[in-house]
Amino acid sequence: MPQPELIADDRITQAHGFTLWFTGLSGSGKSTLAAAVSAELRGRGVPVEVLDGDEVRQNLSKGLGFSREDRDTNIRRIGYVAKLLTRNGVAVISAAISPYRAIRDEVREDIGAFMEVYVKASLDECIRRDTKGLYRRALAGEIPQFTGVSDPYEEPVSPELVIDTEREQVAESAARVIDRLLELGHLRSPGDA
Ligand code: ADX
Repeated sequence: MPQPELIADDRITQAHGFTLWFTGLSGSGKSTLAAAVSAELRGRGVPVEVLDGDEVRQNLSKGLGFSREDRDTNIRRIGYVAKLLTRNGVAVISAAISPYRAIRDEVREDIGAFMEVYVKASLDECIRRDTKGLYRRALAGEIPQFTGVSDPYEEPVSPELVIDTEREQVAESAARVIDRLLELGHLRSPGDA
């Protein structure tokens, strides 16, 4: 017998393709949240593609570095793929640092159905987590132009959603993303017209 709450969940449907744009420091929790949200969406029958910074840099953006120019190129490529998928009805999740506001705004304009999510954790917390061991090396001067340490991160001015990964559990954050998608009309629930 299906659980009642699953019946309610299943009745949420996708209104159209959209791009969820996660931005935040390395180690802030973008990939973890992307995995949780993509599982939630897939569970509701929504087609999802995740464009994760680390993965994109191994193929689509192989060879690019971390100068402003290279980061902008990386983000434009992700934005381009996200646009193609979005217009074909896919729910796209981009999970790259995307440190520069101007280029985030550029992809927002280009894509249209776009929701920016600031995945927020303080630099101190990211250094404490240091999931990849890169902050230790960056602070020792071994990695130049490291975001937050020796390279800028421009916080979003008016993102559709801020997720504070220092205070929220991932399941709670994923639920907040889904709620905001409903509020903005990217997802539909049975009560909607
Ligand atoms: S972005 O700035 O172009 O959006 P992206 O998300 O693709 O960055 O890649 C960031 C990942 O690359 C980090 O999570 C980290 O694992 C790795 N990395 C290696 N060097 C750097 C650096 N100088 N600055 C930031 N991240 C780096």
